[in-house]
Amino acid sequence: MMTIDPTEPAPEPMHRLRFEEPGPPCRTELPGGTPAWLVSRYADVRQVLCDPRFGRAGLYAPDAPALSGVPELVNDPDLMFNQDGPDHLRLRRTLRRAFTPRAVARWRPWIAAIVEELLDRLEERPRPADAVAEFALPLPVAVISRLMGLDASTGDRLRHWSEHAFSDGTQEGEQVAGVLQEFGAFGAELLAERRRAPGPDLVSRVVAVADEEGGVTEAQLVSLVCGLVVGGHDSTMTMLGNALLCLLGEHRETWPLLGVDEDTAGRVADRLVHLVPLGDDRGSTRYATADVEVGGVTIPAGAIVLADCGMANRDPDVFPPDTLHDLLAPLEAPTLSFGAGPHYCLGAWLARTELQLALHRLAARFPDLRLADPVDATVWRTGTTSRSPRWLRVSW
Ligand code: HEM
Repeated sequence: MMTIDPTEPAPEPMHRLRFEEPGPPCRTELPGGTPAWLVSRYADVRQVLCDPRFGRAGLYAPDAPALSGVPELVNDPDLMFNQDGPDHLRLRRTLRRAFTPRAVARWRPWIAAIVEELLDRLEERPRPADAVAEFALPLPVAVISRLMGLDASTGDRLRHWSEHAFSDGTQEGEQVAGVLQEFGAFGAELLAERRRAPGPDLVSRVVAVADEEGGVTEAQLVSLVCGLVVGGHDSTMTMLGNALLCLLGEHRETWPLLGVDEDTAGRVADRLVHLVPLGDDRGSTRYATADVEVGGVTIPAGAIVLADCGMANRDPDVFPPDTLHDLLAPLEAPTLSFGAGPHYCLGAWLARTELQLALHRLAARFPDLRLADPVDATVWRTGTTSRSPRWLRVSW
């Protein structure tokens, strides 16, 4: 499914992508040619993401222009992410308490134990070893699997589902639809199983809260569970792979510092999440349900809006230029890499914890870790909206 065309020029590493200077809202087009508005300044992007007059559900109304020709999980109208107002809140409430900083702090010891276990295994591997296959992928898969009470045999299927759930439109539509159907059947079966025999896992809790609350459809629950399974590991895996490439490839002097203390590793993780995008797609999409003034420009009701967090995260009114050069400095303002407003990333605290522990303990155990291949020889995962190294050969 993931083919590499040797005639295509290799894409730039994610940490080297260049962004234009942000400016006032202006007209643009989505990749398929649908007209939209581009919002790019930090304050304007925050406003769009926080203002309830910019929603997600309108993007999937029967008369809405198609956002993508290929079915994908992110465009499933039943997904929590695609609900607004009370419908969204009802679903978000089933999970809200599970992902608070306090809840995630309680998971820290077993997340750290998974990290250590993977590092023990890595240490035994012949060199060079693949840091994606040995670390960046299995860590978030093991974490989300434990949270959701999935057994080890589900792990391999998770990647297969993710590669289709986040299809970038280059894959065969029918094949994607088939895999998503199989994934949905897995989600439905998982829900049924946890209704029959609840446990201490997240799926059992979602089912219990949803049944108690009422008003949540089975299709919404299936999408919620499937969204968590893939969303809970794909972004973190992508970020960890790109972070390792950036740090070992171009900021090698920072590497030993990460191993000194967790706080330093946390600050570097935050900076990398802030500056290294997950994929080549531009913007978080919203639908204007009324005429709204943003940054002195009226965006008309019915408009599709692209809130470009990548541009906004480099807004010179808020962040100093070239901050990749000082990875250790704390962020000057909250990053938009986890979004903002009602759809603010539910897993942000979990992702930050995983990245912090992963970078800190990897650097502490392997202070002389280095890439076995040049950064420009990186082979990328293709076919999905997230992009990261397909493998990353490292030595020590
Ligand atoms: C570095 C890792 C991650 C990044 C950069 C990231 C980024 C984002 C962003 C930007 C959004 C909002 C999109 C928008 O408003 O248009 C979002 C939403 C979401 N994320 Fe994450 N995410 C990460 C990890 C995770 C993890 C580990 C989980 C789950 C365990 C997760 C679950 C979610 C969910 C459920 C939503 C939708 C929230 C809602 O609609 O209310 N994410 N994420």
